[in-house]
Amino acid sequence: MNNDKNEGTTSFILPALPYADNALEPVISANTISFHYGKHHKGYVDNLNKLVVGTEFVGLPLEKIIAATAGKADKTAIFNNASQAWNHTFYWNSLSPKGGGQPPAALKAKIEASFGTLDACNKELAAAATTQFGSGWAWLVLDGDKLKVVKTGNADSPLTKGMKPLLTIDVWEHAYYLDYQNRRADYVNAVLDKLINWNFAESNLA
Ligand SMILES: [Fe+2]
Repeated sequence: MNNDKNEGTTSFILPALPYADNALEPVISANTISFHYGKHHKGYVDNLNKLVVGTEFVGLPLEKIIAATAGKADKTAIFNNASQAWNHTFYWNSLSPKGGGQPPAALKAKIEASFGTLDACNKELAAAATTQFGSGWAWLVLDGDKLKVVKTGNADSPLTKGMKPLLTIDVWEHAYYLDYQNRRADYVNAVLDKLINWNFAESNLA
């Protein structure tokens, strides 16, 4: 993605949502989106803009900042906000009002080669999303030439482990608590059933 900076400026921007804020209802409410996108995601972008002032990170793409700060104790705040800014844009694109159902053919063939069936892949994604302890993310990734499901804690991302993310599900409480309270599994299963954007995942295979 190349939508994380204004051309010709050094400020990170909050990319527009790829759909209206009520487009994911009834699975994710406009109220959840207004807080999740308008407060949480925006907060990571705003924090990052403050944190990079006067550093070598001004004007760099998010992926470069993430790579340069991962695992560095004195750069934790910059890493967390850069990675959360990237993860959230990736998450919005991993969802679609017309999601769920069957993946396009090329992705489906890869899923079947790696997991056996689409159902097995979805079950692994649901298990990763529901067993991630505390805040974090469940991901479908390309690792070498194989698809895998992985989970990451807090702001962490498969980008720091040499894997290529194809799609993600945010399992921080702020992603579902207003709509589902503590029922994370209900949120995850509804996302997989109705919203998961296989076309986006396939576009990331290239
Ligand atoms: Fe989030």
